[in-house]
Order: sequence, then C-alpha cells, then structure tokens
Amino acid sequence: MTTVQDRIEEAAQVLAEVSDTPRADAEFLMAHLLNVPRAKLPLCFNDAFDTPEFQIFVERRLACEPVPYILGEWEFFSLPLKTRAPVLVPRPETEHLVEVVLHWAQNNTAPNILDLCTGSGCVALALAMNLRHACVTATDISDDALALANENINLHNLDQRVTIRKGDLFDAIGPAQQRFDVICANPPYVEDGEFPGLSPTIRLYEDPRALVAGGDGLDIVRRIVEVAPQYLAEDGLLALEMGERQYDAVAALMQAAGFRDVSAQDDLAGIRRIAYTTKGK
Ligand SMILES: C[S@@+](CC[C@H](N)C(=O)[O-])C[C@H]1O[C@@H](n2cnc3c(N)ncnc32)[C@H](O)[C@@H]1O
Repeated sequence: MTTVQDRIEEAAQVLAEVSDTPRADAEFLMAHLLNVPRAKLPLCFNDAFDTPEFQIFVERRLACEPVPYILGEWEFFSLPLKTRAPVLVPRPETEHLVEVVLHWAQNNTAPNILDLCTGSGCVALALAMNLRHACVTATDISDDALALANENINLHNLDQRVTIRKGDLFDAIGPAQQRFDVICANPPYVEDGEFPGLSPTIRLYEDPRALVAGGDGLDIVRRIVEVAPQYLAEDGLLALEMGERQYDAVAALMQAAGFRDVSAQDDLAGIRRIAYTTKGK
C-alpha cells in the first residue's frame, strides 16, 4: 500500500531538481488535494493514497510552475487569496508593508488609502480587513491583475470599501483633487539586467511588467515618489517596498521630493525592505 507519506517523500526527492523547498512544496500540494491544512497533514501520513492528480501537480511543479499557481490560492497576512498566472504571487516580505501602514494607522483608524500596483489586491485587502473603517483605492496597469484583484475583493466581501482603478500609476486617479492619508505600493523594482538571472519559477510564469523597472530597478519608484506629494494629505504616510540594496537610493529620492525623515523596515532576513516617510507641514 502506498501512503500519503510515501508519496510526499517521493515527490520531495524529484522536486529537489527545481525547488529550494521541495518537501514544503510536496506538502502544500498534498494538503490541498486532501483538503486539510498543511499543519494537520501528519495526521494523514499513514493513510493509503492513490490519487492521480498528485502526479499531475508534481509534474507542473517540475516544469517550474509556482506552487500558488498550481493550487490557485495562497495566503497573505492570514488572508486566503486567489492566485493565477501571470499576476504576481503575494510574497511574505510584502507583509511588512502592511505592518508599516497598520502601525501608522494606530493614530488614524479611518484612513483613505491608495495602494498603487495592487496586483492580486493582497496589500489593499489586508489593510481593509485590518482597518475596519478604511477606504482603499487599488490601482494597476494590468487587466489580468485587476480581474484577479476584483475576484479577491468579492471573495472577502470588501467591494464597499476597496475600489479598483486601472491606469499608469496616478493616472488611474486623475487630477490631484483627492488626497490620501496613505500611499503605499509594492512596485516592480528588479533591474532590467537581473531579469535573465531570476529563478525560472519567477521568470517563466510571472508578468515581467510586475517585476522589472529599468536599469537601476527604480523607474516606477522614482515616478511614485516625485508625484506622491501632490496626492498625499498633510502628515500622510508614503510607504514603498524595495529591493535589497535599494534603500539609500529610495531614501535619497524621497528626500529630493521634500520628505524629511525617511525610515526603513527590515524583513525577516534583516534586509531593509520598506522605505517610509510622512509628509511634513
Ligand atoms: C511587484 S507587483 C506587486 C503586486 C502586489 N502589490 C503584491 O505585492 O503582490 C507590481 C504590480 O505593479 C503593476 N504595474 C507595473 N507598472 C505599473 C504602472 N506603470 N502603473 C500601475 N501599475 C503598474 C504590475 O502590473 C504588478 O501587478
């Protein structure tokens, strides 16, 4: 008899060819098929297992497809979200962007928030879920991203408080008549030259427009920082995710745009991941 555990171990061995986390990948795929949380999977280890779909999942992963695309769902900030190619898979480091905004919002429990470059809508939805009186505008340039964000908004019944707009950064909002208490974004920030060296799991499946942003990776950040003061309320927060080694450049851009004190939030690997600042009087 082949058991659940046997299948996980076999799969983990072959997946080591393409993945840095083969055992975790195999467990996520199996837990999804058995419809149990991954933490409870050991309770099923000795059960007989003969489901051909598992092999199909493993083959998709062997072709480098990201686990969240195979599953069609992924968790971000404890929120289950739909996922599908080519919309960027929400990353754990982006949860720090949400934390920075939630920390700031202790003094403003009903902020008007703009989430630029929303992708799946993960940041917008995590903020709306945790700030019960917030209004969030979520924008993106990609139809695929906005269609998925819309599905995720409906999944969590947040259509009254999260609004989607399509457009190139602030063009999605129109002239700066409306001011936001928070402008946040996880924009594309990979350098053009780094793209060919990215893992195939990223490079072959995720939209390059969600990843790369010019020679220094800062084309989109630069445009956001330059225009943000026009759309930000007094004392409002600007918080942006960035890549490893980009903090000094992003902080300099913020200062050049008139923001005074710029701070960094590290991710769990100790990398300065979020740059944030407030608009002074
Ligand atoms: C790094 S992804 C982040 C997605 C999501 N916020 C997340 O954290 O998973 C960047 C997103 O920016 C969008 N994007 C790229 N260029 C843009 C532009 N000029 N205006 C608006 N959105 C843009 C992409 O379509 C993509 O969804």
